[in-house]
Amino acid sequence: MKGLILSGGRGTRLYPLTYTSAKQLIPVANKPVLVRVIEAIRDAGIDEIGIVVGDTAEEIKTAIGRGGRWGVEVTYIRQDQPLGLAHAVKVSQDFLGDERFVMFLGDNVIQGGISGLIGQFSSSGWNSQIVLTRVSHPEQYGVAELDNEGKIVRLVEKPKEPLSDLALVGIYMFDHHVHEAVDHITPSWRGEFEITDAIQWLVEQGYDVYPYVHRGWWIDTGSPGAMLDANGLVLEELTPAIEGYVDRDSEVDGRVTIQQGAEIINSVIRGPSIIGERSRIVNSYVGPFTSIYHDVLVEDSEIERAIVLEHSEIRDIPARIQDSLIGRQVILARSPIKPKAYKLTLGDHSQVGIL
Ligand code: DAU
Repeated sequence: MKGLILSGGRGTRLYPLTYTSAKQLIPVANKPVLVRVIEAIRDAGIDEIGIVVGDTAEEIKTAIGRGGRWGVEVTYIRQDQPLGLAHAVKVSQDFLGDERFVMFLGDNVIQGGISGLIGQFSSSGWNSQIVLTRVSHPEQYGVAELDNEGKIVRLVEKPKEPLSDLALVGIYMFDHHVHEAVDHITPSWRGEFEITDAIQWLVEQGYDVYPYVHRGWWIDTGSPGAMLDANGLVLEELTPAIEGYVDRDSEVDGRVTIQQGAEIINSVIRGPSIIGERSRIVNSYVGPFTSIYHDVLVEDSEIERAIVLEHSEIRDIPARIQDSLIGRQVILARSPIKPKAYKLTLGDHSQVGIL
């Protein structure tokens, strides 16, 4: 089997972080979501992976390269415009050939990996298998209706009135018949070639499409809130390790990971949380569900349930920073220079909550 990861698209809901960079590269518990997806596919025994890329192709290629670091061989597939998930399959036909494959959305994080799933599909004669999970807002997803025997009756993309609470998780398995399906569908009301419609076409033609209902957690990291939720869930499953330096005046609890070269000076770190390589936490408090990426400085400040990206500095902030997503090379500091005022240089779509 081959793997196909979809990493095109624009990530508008994560602006401003994704204005210039790919949403799939934002780290969750200090590892980019895309790397988590590559590892999940590799752990299921697949080492030939195609990554569909769009505007952010260069950044993704720089981060992932040819995949050797993860023991896989990556082929990049250019999609000039994000015309939909089925369109992404269309542009990948040369790479996929007639092989069976798993398609995984590059911004999804799932508990427990996909080995069981891949094992089941690759040993079956099924034409397709889709992963479903129960959600509280099905109208935001592709939704599946099953019959009494658990077979798929109908699939609808983001229905106004959902017929069930079973959402399509961004993991799909196909044989070559999907290529016929993507050639038969037309764009949806949102102007995209929907993979949901292609699967519906397979069902209507009588092909064997089976569901797999996933019971653990699953998160589509497309929005800041979802990103923080995913970060918290992954942190809870991380095996803690102290590889950096913690001074005697600091208090670090059992669910904290301190990566190589990080320094904790006179600070309190509560887990689950992670402090990245070469980051320094000085006279500060880092609370649960926080990921500080590499080369960050947090000094005389308090932060909790947050993600801070690389090379940022947080200094001398009088109130606790919470529920926050802070980008790369951001400087958040108290300034002694008069007049006493908020001095902000914020990108478009930034959001700041002030006391
Ligand atoms: O997250 C699960 C949902 O993903 C499913 O329930 C829906 O049925 C499915 O259509 C999809 O919906 P989204 O609207 O959330 O998809 P999104 O536009 O966020 O794209 C998902 C990933 O695919 C993302 O990593 C970007 C990439 N992508 C997207 C499009 C539209 C591409 O590579 N090419 C594209 O043309």
